[in-house]
Amino acid sequence: MILTVTLNAALDVTYGVDSLLPRTSHRVDSTYERAGGKGINVARVLAARGHPVAVTGLAGGPTGTVLRDELRTAGLRDELLPIAGDSRRTLTVVSHDDGDATVFNETGPQVEPAEWESFTAHFASLLRGVAVVVLSGSLPPGLPPDAYATLVRTAGAAGAATVVDTSGPALLDALGAGPDVVKPNAAELTAVTGREDVAAAAAELRVLGARAVVASSGADGLHAVTGAGTWRAVPPEQLAGNPTGAGDACVAALAAGLAAGAPWPEVLREAVALSAAAVPCPMAGDIDPGTYHRFRTTVSVEELHAPLAH
Ligand SMILES: Nc1ncnc2c1ncn2[C@@H]1O[C@H](COP(=O)(O)OP(=O)(O)OP(=O)(O)O)[C@@H](O)[C@H]1O
Ligand SMILES: [Mg+2]
Repeated sequence: MILTVTLNAALDVTYGVDSLLPRTSHRVDSTYERAGGKGINVARVLAARGHPVAVTGLAGGPTGTVLRDELRTAGLRDELLPIAGDSRRTLTVVSHDDGDATVFNETGPQVEPAEWESFTAHFASLLRGVAVVVLSGSLPPGLPPDAYATLVRTAGAAGAATVVDTSGPALLDALGAGPDVVKPNAAELTAVTGREDVAAAAAELRVLGARAVVASSGADGLHAVTGAGTWRAVPPEQLAGNPTGAGDACVAALAAGLAAGAPWPEVLREAVALSAAAVPCPMAGDIDPGTYHRFRTTVSVEELHAPLAH
């Protein structure tokens, strides 16, 4: 079983318009609403691939009710903890003329200290039989900066491996707890290390405590620094579409690979194929099976140098 954590769960609203023009009115010709936040997107991808998965995190208010209803409709196991504040919405406006997406992300509700304390107990109670915990996305206001470090330690003590996909201070802080894998993108790596070079920045996060660092660079693929070696995995071609959610599909493959105990080259091949398969899909959390199967056999995986000493 894989457990995904979304501390700032959202209701993702997608509007379709002919053409997006600032300072004008628009007729919205399609509206989709569904549960989102990175951990929920990861769970959707895992469920679509047939992996047993459960969703936890924090959700509340009328928006929380709508997003939980949608989780149920989608058949995802809902272990979210209710909070008093109203969950956030994200709004994506997709313009049909160029296919571009414009995204508005609300910050999320204030979480009270007692709610966070309840969540840590709830989280610990869910860990029986869990092989991998995925911790994805931003922290809502009110949570302590060491929230992810606390959950990584709790999961580790229960024998579960951890995959962390977050940014900024939340990422830096999580490293000290020794997560099994972190999955920053190139911009997130530069923001926390001050380094432009992905390989050097990824190696630095490993020194700071992550057991493995899988850095993603869009169509340039993945650079992984692990205790067993360093690899580069590259998709056979650059795809057009909506790359939002590619990172979540990548994390889903990393979690599935860890749960299966698969060797790194195989895990990275799957991660590139599955994440690329998210690009042709307009909605985060969806994957295109045709692209996935085509890429599985054509991703290139290259070992860069001998295993690191530590
Ligand atoms: N245009 C593309 N063509 C092919 N593969 C892609 C493309 N964009 C992304 N990918 C695949 O998806 C992976 C993750 O992409 P990216 O680095 O954009 O993640 P991210 O910035 O974390 O995304 P997210 O918005 O989901 O957080 C890449 O390593 C690559 O394997
Ligand atoms: Mg990302």
